[in-house]
Amino acid sequence: MAEAARVILAGATGWAGAALARGIAAAPDLRLVGAVGRSHAGRRLGDLLGEPLLDCIVHASAAEALAAPADVFVEYTKPDSAKANILAALAAGLHVVVGTSGLTDADYEEIDRVARQQRRAVLACGNFAITAVLMMKFAEMAAGYLDHFEVIDYAHEAKVDAPSGTARELSVRLGRVKEARLDVPLAEVRGPREARGARLNGVQVHSVRAPGFALSVEAIFGGRGERLQIRHDSGDSAVPYVAGALLAIRRVHTLTGLQRGLDTVMKD
Ligand SMILES: NC(=O)c1ccc[n+]([C@@H]2O[C@H](COP(=O)([O-])OP(=O)(O)OC[C@H]3O[C@@H](n4cnc5c(N)ncnc54)[C@H](OP(=O)(O)O)[C@@H]3O)[C@@H](O)[C@H]2O)c1
Repeated sequence: MAEAARVILAGATGWAGAALARGIAAAPDLRLVGAVGRSHAGRRLGDLLGEPLLDCIVHASAAEALAAPADVFVEYTKPDSAKANILAALAAGLHVVVGTSGLTDADYEEIDRVARQQRRAVLACGNFAITAVLMMKFAEMAAGYLDHFEVIDYAHEAKVDAPSGTARELSVRLGRVKEARLDVPLAEVRGPREARGARLNGVQVHSVRAPGFALSVEAIFGGRGERLQIRHDSGDSAVPYVAGALLAIRRVHTLTGLQRGLDTVMKD
C-alpha cells in the first residue's frame, strides 16, 4: 500500500479548517502531520477537536509547522497571513491547496511564478463545495451565449474580504469566456462610479455584507426581454467544503504552477 500523503493544515482550529481536519483523520490515505493556529499553539489538535486520531501539535506559525517533513500544505487562515504561508510552503518544497479567500490576482501572479520556479503546484479554490463548482460551470456556459452579465456576492457582516473568493473565481472564469458588455462605459456613468461595482477580469462585481447571510453568489445574465440568474447559497455548515478539499489535497501533485478552481482536478 502506498504511504499516506503528509498534510500540514494552517487554520486547523477554525470553522472550515476544523471540519477539514476531521475529514483528514477519517481518510486512510492522508495523515495530518502539522497544524497552524495562534490561540491554541502548543496544544494537541485532537484534544481541541475531540478527535483522538489527530495527534499533531498546533504551531503558532506556518514556519514552525513546516519544520516537519510533509507533502501538501493547506492554507485555510485569513487573507493577511495567507500569501506568506503559501510562499513559505513552496520554499519548503510542498504542494499547496488554498481555501482562504481575499488574495488578489496580483498575489496569485506572484504565487504562480514562485510555484513554477520551485516546480510545485498550487491549487486555489474559491469554493470547495460541489454545488458552487457547478454554479460556476453553468455560468461559464451562459456567458458563451449572452453578452451582458454581472456578479453579486452576499455574506455576513464580519467578512473582511470583498468580493468573496467564490465571486473572484467566478469573475476570472467568466472573464476567460468573454468580457461582459457595458453599453454605458464606466467613465460615462453619471453619479459615483462605485455604484456600478468593481470591474474584475472584465466583469462588474458587487458585494453585499449584512447579518442574515452566510455566503451566496449570483451570476446575472440579461438578454433583450429575458433574464437568467444562476445562484449558489451556502448554509451554516462547513461539511460541504470537506470532500472537495480532500480531492484537491489528493490531486494537487498532478498539476504544475498555479491552477484555480476545483474542477481542474475533477473528472467530467
Ligand atoms: N474555499 C472554500 O471553499 C472556503 C470555505 C470556507 C471558508 N473559506 C475561507 O477560508 C478562510 C478561513 O475561514 P474560517 O471561517 O474557517 O475562519 P476562522 O474560523 O476565523 O478560522 C481561521 C483559522 O486560521 C487561524 N489563523 C488566522 N490568522 C492566523 C495567522 N495570522 N497565523 C496563524 N493562524 C491564523 C485561526 O486561528 P487563530 O486565530 O487562533 O490564529 C483559525 O484556526 C476564510 O478566508 C474563508 O473565506 C473558504
